[in-house]
Amino acid sequence: GVTSLMRIPLSELKKHNKKEDAWTAISGKVYNITAYLRFHPGGEKELMRVAGRDGTKLFALTHSWVNADFMLDGCMVGFLAADS
Ligand code: HEM
Repeated sequence: GVTSLMRIPLSELKKHNKKEDAWTAISGKVYNITAYLRFHPGGEKELMRVAGRDGTKLFALTHSWVNADFMLDGCMVGFLAADS
């Protein structure tokens, strides 16, 4: 449930920058994108560019029409801490 979601500082997000352990943040929400990597229509390499960092801007630049919030709902691990 939503109450178990973590508040994640940028320092924690940064640790998850590998193919076998990839997180990204989009619009304040942090997602574990590891399982989605192989299915991304734009390829793993492109998606890995947002791994371990705030991907909000790059995501919006490449495909603002894609509803990441809906797509990755099941992969959400928490909220990016505001003070990070
Ligand atoms: C295509 C999802 C991040 C580059 C797509 C499509 C989806 C998607 C659903 C198909 C869109 C369509 O056909 O209209 C996501 C999600 C992302 C993400 C959920 C983040 C979590 C990125 C990033 C990049 C990127 C960071 C580049 C730096 C591309 C490209 C395509 C694409 C180039 C077009 C592939 C093609 O049609 O040949 N992505 N994407 N994506 N994505 Fe992503």
